[in-house]
Amino acid sequence: YSLKTANSFAVESKTPHIYFPSSDDDLVALSQLLKDQTYYLLGDGSNTLFCEELAPVIVAPRFYGVEIQETELGFIVEAGGSENWHNLVISLIEQNIKGLENLALIPGTVGAAPVQNIGAYGKDISMYCTGVTWFSMLNQCATQFSNEQCQFSYRDSLFKHDGYNKGIITKVSFFFPKKWQAQIEYGELQTLPTNVTAKQVMEKVIEVRNLKLPNPETLPNAGSFFKNPVVSNQTVSNLQRTFPDMPVYPVDESNSKLAAGWLIDQAGLKGFTQCSAAVHDRQALVIVNKGNATGSDIIHLAKFVQSEVHKKFAVYIEPEVRLVSSRGEQPFSAIDV
Ligand code: EPU
Repeated sequence: YSLKTANSFAVESKTPHIYFPSSDDDLVALSQLLKDQTYYLLGDGSNTLFCEELAPVIVAPRFYGVEIQETELGFIVEAGGSENWHNLVISLIEQNIKGLENLALIPGTVGAAPVQNIGAYGKDISMYCTGVTWFSMLNQCATQFSNEQCQFSYRDSLFKHDGYNKGIITKVSFFFPKKWQAQIEYGELQTLPTNVTAKQVMEKVIEVRNLKLPNPETLPNAGSFFKNPVVSNQTVSNLQRTFPDMPVYPVDESNSKLAAGWLIDQAGLKGFTQCSAAVHDRQALVIVNKGNATGSDIIHLAKFVQSEVHKKFAVYIEPEVRLVSSRGEQPFSAIDV
């Protein structure tokens, strides 16, 4: 079974088997069937790179449906894990349920969103997510996790650690207060007037993303390939002596985030192309497949980018995209080129 159309990098990789569970009963049966096997959970395939011609067994859940309940203070929304994230954002804003406008046009499913705590333009999903329904493939039952139990932080959650590869997010719950304030402090959104509506913020986010980020339908990619590195403030001050214009975002008292796109750009790699894999020419954080790049071509380029950035700034940038070989998901360092 070819996965070429099931991943937004459009690389060819074949799986021996793909399953589409759509109920808890299906998941019980599947967890027994796959007990001793390696498998990879696939949503919309927009944050996954298949690195080899052979992929592991794939589980592609199909949990749909959106329920909305109005309360005095806001709206409770429960969405199936397989719903498309952007469609949910649009449909909520159209119903005047405000909150997710900054997170428009992020590719992927609702169920994948809490895993890496998707975020953009000063907001992330942890600000509105009240809970996650997670089906444990080990215990074969559904568990609820509260926002706190999800342990959200920058591009991170429990589902990348203790919950890693042990279960499936079938439903995500949100609360959107009726009292709403626009978050327009980030970059390009600062041009918006303070009395802007949520719909206008969403339209601006869509406009900015469309300008900078390549559309995977026409230029296959998986959004930011790398995470913005979190480094100590000591490292920041050392670097600022040589690079006073370097963008820096505070994280906590002792750490800050650097802009990986800026580091890659400054390393002179914007637009750099190798075997159909290229650093995008409008946002260096994104790697694109310009034609027939294989997963291995993309890995090759990513390793080169990592090493050039390290040469110039002595900072290692790590992929945000999930890397999958025939043996399942792998850390970047474990993938040979
Ligand atoms: N920059 C450059 N050259 C580039 C790219 C960026 O100089 O080629 C500079 C920009 O001028 C800016 C800074 O780097 O000063 C940051 O760039 P940008 O505002 O575009 O955001 P980012 O940090 O590169 C992050 C997210 C994006 C999200 C934007 C907006 C990560 C890994 N990426 O990118 O998320 O849309 O902020 O909030 O945190 C994604 O995760 O797939 C994604 C696209």
